[in-house]
Amino acid sequence: MILLFVSDVDSAGDWRRELAKHVPDLELRVWPELGDPTEIEAALVWRPPPGLLDRLPNLRIVFSLGAGVDHIFADPSLPPGVPIVRLVDPYMTTAMSEYVQLQVLRLHRRDPVYRAQQQARIWRQWPQPNAAERRVGVLGLGVLGSDAALKLKVLGFDLAGWSRTERKLPGVACFHGADGLAALLERTDILVCLLPLTPATEGILDAALFARLPQGAALVNCARGRHLVEADLLAALDSGRLAAAVLDVFREEPLPPEHPFWRHERILLTPHVAAATYPPTAARAVAEGLRRFADGRPLLNRVDRSERY
Ligand code: NAP
Ligand code: GLV
Repeated sequence: MILLFVSDVDSAGDWRRELAKHVPDLELRVWPELGDPTEIEAALVWRPPPGLLDRLPNLRIVFSLGAGVDHIFADPSLPPGVPIVRLVDPYMTTAMSEYVQLQVLRLHRRDPVYRAQQQARIWRQWPQPNAAERRVGVLGLGVLGSDAALKLKVLGFDLAGWSRTERKLPGVACFHGADGLAALLERTDILVCLLPLTPATEGILDAALFARLPQGAALVNCARGRHLVEADLLAALDSGRLAAAVLDVFREEPLPPEHPFWRHERILLTPHVAAATYPPTAARAVAEGLRRFADGRPLLNRVDRSERY
């Protein structure tokens, strides 16, 4: 089978080596080398150039190089009917939960305040609630959100989560749907966004949502930049509605040097590294998908095209 690899050319060597361990007879073509487009049956992509996949008349399956698939749906000429498989990799799940635990602990232990105090050489001790008194709400209870929620629970936090359809997680107060969101927000001191970016979730982190959080709540967004209305976040931080925000993802990446987030004293940011795709483990998941596809077995982690995740 011929698989078209569409991403940064630098990572192609790693993917060629790792996929060869699992699918030795696979031919990997690295975009922009297309060869005969009619020979390509599968594609492994991150942000494919719009129109590219539509130029492959015999394309029968698309694999996402990330857990999110919004970068694939961004192509208005995405061929209809071709199955899309997203990346689910235990390494990535663990990495995301590490990130979420780190950032929630930083906020819980007032690390942004103490960093600012250190800069100003201020010795001031603040009262420290224990984790059981800190209410954490996780938006998105899928592969990543549910693992993060359960690991935060182990740290002792008071956990709630929100999903589109009803979910149950031990020790986590689960809410779903529009009514459930309001209920979750009013009992959330630290809000973690792990939603997929879809038409239903774009811009969800806006002034109306912040207004439903308790005064002085904090935000961790490690899903997608387009979930956040940036001006609303700045206004919420300025008014004290939000005390702090940790951001891993941005509307424009890399974040432009002149962007106000860089220097905001109550924003901690990282450059989209919460859970990067790691070829040695991710290749196993892609190889399993290729084998299932070749054998005509049901695909795992197939995207629901109507829900866009
Ligand atoms: P997933 O398994 O598909 O889970 C998505 C969750 O969001 C599900 O619980 C789903 O509800 C919920 N959801 C979707 N639409 C909703 C809506 N309209 N209202 C309420 N809940 C909704 O996705 P995942 O693997 O956990 O990944 C989540 C996202 O993380 C990815 O899409 C990606 O954008 C982001 N991500 C970021 C990084 C990074 O490095 N920053 C790395 C990997 C992934 P149901 O359970 O009812 O379906
Ligand atoms: C990264 O952001 C991913 O979607 O895997």
